[in-house]
Amino acid sequence: MTTGELLRIGVVIGSGHGMAGTTGALVQELLDRVADLTATEVTVVETETLRLGGSCSACLSCMTDGEATCPNIGNSDPATTLLDTSDLVVFATPVHSFHVSATMKRFVDHYAYLIHRPRHFGTPAVLISTAAGAGHDAALGYLAEATRRWGFHTIAQLGVNGPALARAPYRARVDTALAEIAETIVDGTRNGKEPTPSTKDLIGFRVARLLVQGGKDEGSVDEAYWNERNWFDADWFTDAKVPKLANRLAAIIEGRIRSAIEKGSNKPFRG
Ligand SMILES: Cc1cc2nc3c(=O)[nH]c(=O)nc-3n(C[C@H](O)[C@H](O)[C@H](O)COP(=O)(O)O)c2cc1C
Repeated sequence: MTTGELLRIGVVIGSGHGMAGTTGALVQELLDRVADLTATEVTVVETETLRLGGSCSACLSCMTDGEATCPNIGNSDPATTLLDTSDLVVFATPVHSFHVSATMKRFVDHYAYLIHRPRHFGTPAVLISTAAGAGHDAALGYLAEATRRWGFHTIAQLGVNGPALARAPYRARVDTALAEIAETIVDGTRNGKEPTPSTKDLIGFRVARLLVQGGKDEGSVDEAYWNERNWFDADWFTDAKVPKLANRLAAIIEGRIRSAIEKGSNKPFRG
């Protein structure tokens, strides 16, 4: 996107109240602020009405035979189009029991194939949560982690306690944050390049490669996707500059993971 172009914003909202609840109201405030700065076109998808069903059917056909074989693929079309065509995506959720809402979680599960075949590099994400008082860290941390695996990079996060908005000092801080994020959205999307991958990103790349290599016998879709992009011989998904030291560290960790898997020497999680 360059100056003067329409900013296409996609909103994925995980509230049972759609855009009419506390989360939607906060997102709308942000959208209004962005619209004051630049021309926008907004598309909203509600996870509640996508009809993805209860849990993911866990057939794994999206991984082995491609996402077109998912029994829910038709129902996710509006969301897939939004993710594929937006200049920036806002992922917003109420905090439910210290995490994202159930339908937001279901949404994330639907796109698990993007962990194997990520395709959203270069698209910035903004993460929003609302709560009565606590749980933003887990909810937003999870959204940041999940969407990063799909390729998105988070440029701003905001967790707001709905009841606290009645207090003027808190309201003022939220207003300041919204103004800052609106600026970040416009600047970040105009000038935004894929950020330099962090050590964690580089480890994520290598773990994804392990996953794909490990699943070769089950299906060739992932392998073909990785081959087409020469990712088996790469250090990172894009041509963003890879920091040498971080990459060396990631390679060491990958080696340890590989060896632990081969020897079965990795330990069960005990907390
Ligand atoms: C099932 C459920 C669980 C909730 N869990 C939390 C929680 O863990 N922490 C919290 O601070 N608020 C919690 N809340 C309150 C909501 O996060 C809060 O009211 C939110 O702003 C509602 O947004 P909405 O109007 O978009 O649905 C919970 C609400 C519900 C319905």
